Amino acid sequence: MEIGNLRQTVILGIESSCDETAAAVVENGRSIRSNVVASQLDTHAKYGGVVPELASREHLRAIVPVVREALGDAGLKLQDLSAVAVTAGPGLVGSLLVGITYAKALCFASKCPLIAVNHIEGHIHSVLLEHPEIRFPALALVVSGGHTHLFEVPAPGAYHVLGKTRDDAAGEAYDKVAKLLGFGYPGGPMIDRLARFGNARAVKFTLAKMKGNELDFSFSGLKTAVLRWTAQHDLSAEIAHRKQLQNPSFEDWLAATPQTTLDLLASFQQTVIDELLRRAIAAAGQIGADSVIVSGGVAANTGLCKQALAHRALSFYFPRANLSTDNAAMIAAAAFPKFERGEFAAFDLKAQASLALA
Ligand code: KG4
Ligand code: ZN
Repeated sequence: MEIGNLRQTVILGIESSCDETAAAVVENGRSIRSNVVASQLDTHAKYGGVVPELASREHLRAIVPVVREALGDAGLKLQDLSAVAVTAGPGLVGSLLVGITYAKALCFASKCPLIAVNHIEGHIHSVLLEHPEIRFPALALVVSGGHTHLFEVPAPGAYHVLGKTRDDAAGEAYDKVAKLLGFGYPGGPMIDRLARFGNARAVKFTLAKMKGNELDFSFSGLKTAVLRWTAQHDLSAEIAHRKQLQNPSFEDWLAATPQTTLDLLASFQQTVIDELLRRAIAAAGQIGADSVIVSGGVAANTGLCKQALAHRALSFYFPRANLSTDNAAMIAAAAFPKFERGEFAAFDLKAQASLALA
């Protein structure tokens, strides 16, 4: 697209890997011209987690209006686009397929190229997008409902895995603990808010030492420890009460949570933060990085953010709130360097549930 005499690269990003249908237009990999997210939270909340079949159906319903809104907000027509970028994986195959199929149709109609983006690379770009000052090599900590990974990023677009979770992802631990204690789905935002009212050092969780790669994570032991604590302190009555709450406000949740449980939540959260920061700091030291990019849904955690930003030697970078959870601006931003390198996808692009970044 030409503005004045300057040629601008405007990329439409499409994201449908899990339970958000999202489309966004980003100019030159940096400037967000529109960013639309249709959340399916209400559909999945009553099941306590994402139901894959329902997710695909909701994506099918939302994809056309969401893309139309993203183009409209950016003041663009399909013909103005330089490329269409889409999440190819990792994620739920049925959900990914909806975005991929629609992206292909748009490229076919507009004759613009198709770009495949890894969802995890997208999360890293949700930070790079707004922080051109980040120095390389950098360390990237990607913490979401599906991933907990540490990557060495020698330069934008290059990634080496340094560590990853051996079982549950950090966000998954939040969601499982929340479900176990009778809080809604997703658990992260609610535990984050409630934890501010508890004593983070009240319950000591001792986690098993990692054998092998010390930069790997494990969160399933912590979840089991919370389960054991809950059984020992017989929380069944308060859990049953919370499950009965109808459209509760935050004050209702708080009133339905005794101090001992607030302490448990704060201690659980502090253990997760300690685990994440300890390994991120060790990994940054190992590769000689002084910039740490934190991204993915758990990057929205206020405790994690506050404690990371207090670190004296390392510069931590977080995405702003609406870019930490799944969105398509990060997909369009991650596609820009690929566009410049001419890295286009063929029309037989497939959804890859376990697509690895490195
Ligand atoms: O990146 P995301 O939107 O989707 C995936 O790619 O998984 O991350 C969603 C995850 C959920 O597990 C949710 O509980 C967690 O991020 N999350 C949080 C917070 N906000 C979202 N976890 C902790 N604190 C938060 N404030
Ligand atoms: Zn994500």
